[in-house]
Amino acid sequence: MSSTNSFQGRTLAAVADLSIDEQRYLYRKTRELKEAWRCGGDLTHFRIRDPELNVYLMFLEDSTRTKESFRNAAKFHDVRLNVFDASSSSFKKSESLVDTVKMLFGYGRRSIFIMRTEMEGVCRALEEQIGEYAARIGREKPVFINAGDGRHEHPTQEFLDEFTFLEQRGWDDSHIHVALIGDLFHGRTVHSKADGLNVFGSVTVDLVAPEELALPASYKSRMEENGFEIREWASIQEYLGSGDISNCWYFTRLQLERMGDEVRERENELRKAVTFRQDWMDKLPHNTRFFHPLPRHREKPVIPTFLDGTPLNGWDGQSINGYFTRVVELAMVAGRLGSDFDGIGPLPEEKERSFITDVEITRKSRVEDRFKVGIKPVDDGTVIDHIAKGRSPEEIWDRIYRIRRILKLNVRSSHGVFHSADPHHFKGLMSLPDILEIGPTELKKLAAVSPGCTVNLIENRSVKAKYRLSMPPKIYNFEEISCKNPKCITWPGAFQSVPPHFYRTVGETFTCRYCGKRHEYGDIWDL
Ligand code: NCD
Repeated sequence: MSSTNSFQGRTLAAVADLSIDEQRYLYRKTRELKEAWRCGGDLTHFRIRDPELNVYLMFLEDSTRTKESFRNAAKFHDVRLNVFDASSSSFKKSESLVDTVKMLFGYGRRSIFIMRTEMEGVCRALEEQIGEYAARIGREKPVFINAGDGRHEHPTQEFLDEFTFLEQRGWDDSHIHVALIGDLFHGRTVHSKADGLNVFGSVTVDLVAPEELALPASYKSRMEENGFEIREWASIQEYLGSGDISNCWYFTRLQLERMGDEVRERENELRKAVTFRQDWMDKLPHNTRFFHPLPRHREKPVIPTFLDGTPLNGWDGQSINGYFTRVVELAMVAGRLGSDFDGIGPLPEEKERSFITDVEITRKSRVEDRFKVGIKPVDDGTVIDHIAKGRSPEEIWDRIYRIRRILKLNVRSSHGVFHSADPHHFKGLMSLPDILEIGPTELKKLAAVSPGCTVNLIENRSVKAKYRLSMPPKIYNFEEISCKNPKCITWPGAFQSVPPHFYRTVGETFTCRYCGKRHEYGDIWDL
């Protein structure tokens, strides 16, 4: 086992936890394994063979294929396989996930947890919390593999899907034109495609779903940011009339268990829009294959059973690929495979780049000149200027009160909304004679609460230092923020004690580090 193995100990919470090169490595190794297996070759070098490695299957939501393929993969490896019985565990006594996993972690020298949960962002949170615990007690940190978390992601399904697409294309990864059909709203296997399809040089995605089941906007944006060409239709019938049809159709079932009553009532009509019909057979391009993560609805399947014995059937082979890709994934994170990897790993997390810029102090910076409109100039103290500049007076007032509350500025001060230099724009201003200095932590808070503002430190009636604060790349450690996804592990009602944490994405959006939900900047705040 190589000590330089870059896969060992890695958690797979989302597709992007493996770089594109690493995903390609996984597909290459799976291809080798499958070939060797088919020819009855020697599989020893794929096998982990470590009786001290505990593999825990923790499926808190139903599963057949993912659970059984992982169970078989773990058996292939000769490791200690454990199946956690959630229905009779202390979850019933309201125990938290961290407490439960911490206990199981204690039972083996090395551990891999394969988790399926309704709650979203679980693997990332456990990676951090149990990882910290492991470091504290001097143990090897455990691995968490996301086997599907709510509506969020299903990375290992994604890896088997992409492997299957590549196999269908004779390993040509230059381009893919794929149709995603069915419940694109709830289907996590579809959400994971926003990153997983990146393994192809160029991507065209046809989204086929009625409005109620359409792909959530955030995944669509991610596909756009990844450079995918996206086209949309409300039903298969409309799609078939469009002319340029894909030969790779990826169906998903209607996830009734995740739907509200209103959508469920329209089930038949929605199902009809995404169910294939016999009389459409001759409209399909040459060499078309249908795929499906399965299960299919036994009574009303979107891929009807008369297609099972036809060349359109790509889904049975796809499902078997789940076993091979998962054997390789376990071998990689256990450090058995990977020493021959030669490529680029994931980008390191963005560093806390500076969001505080010094502003040059000009002669005009005499306090009397600058802060005289309606606010008493301070001889010594701090003036926070340009608060929410360009916003409406109502929003600026709101921001001023938010700054006061979050920075706990219960001191002498005056504040107000004024015209900025441009008479068409407003800005907020706060003058704080009792605050002679603002430390780095407070400045960071202020940048998060009111990006774009300036901070003037005043001594003896002149501005001694001036900083402009921009939007920080991450926002966390505030009591006043929360992820607005009730299924997120950070949701206060989940009582999992995972504090919210956002990182900045395009524009002024902030994405939850755990469940991936994108928020507009203003929506992360509770005040
Ligand atoms: C999928 C899942 O659980 O997300 N199934 C699977 O893992 N094979 C899709 C589904 O449940 O419809």
